[in-house]
Amino acid sequence: KRVAILISGGGSNMVKLVDSMVGDHPARPCLVLSNVAGAGGLARAQALGVPTEVVDHRDFKGDREGFEKTLISRIDGHAPDIIALAGFMRILTPLFIDHFAGRMLNIHPSLLPKYRGLNTHARAIEARDAEAGCTVHEVTAELDGGPILGQARVPVLPDDTPDSLAARVLEQEHRLYPAVLRRFAQGERGLLQL
Ligand code: GRF
Repeated sequence: KRVAILISGGGSNMVKLVDSMVGDHPARPCLVLSNVAGAGGLARAQALGVPTEVVDHRDFKGDREGFEKTLISRIDGHAPDIIALAGFMRILTPLFIDHFAGRMLNIHPSLLPKYRGLNTHARAIEARDAEAGCTVHEVTAELDGGPILGQARVPVLPDDTPDSLAARVLEQEHRLYPAVLRRFAQGERGLLQL
């Protein structure tokens, strides 16, 4: 299976995914694409020998359809079987999502269905939740709402800040996403609880 990974920033999840696709793993990375030209993850992908592309959403001021059509054609040029969103910070419309229906994953830094959207760690702390974590789900038109494939949990500690909690959750993201991607590439769809 060929996997295209979409990023917007540092790409720490992307690096873990690429590093996991070795040996008897059924998938290999075929592309790392960023919507941000200077994203740190692009240099990391190149250092790992993975082809990279940039489609800068700012080149399509307000023309969301044009951006997504360009994204689709650029991605399809690398013939991926699976799309993994990993810190990709653009909201995608049904135009893009339908094109990759059933073969697109995302990792979200909360225990969905709690805390869809942004600032998930601050919201968990604000709510005095005892637990937080991350979720890998299939991407559907509903923002952060598709079928859940895996979750990992961490404690929220009394002196946590959004940053300290984010760091603890990110560690679990780096375990969860590779594990879910491998199962997904093998055609498994059950829920993985780490
Ligand atoms: C992280 O906050 C992660 O929770 C979310 O995207 C952000 C950046 O991740 N998935 P990465 O380091 O670019 O993979």
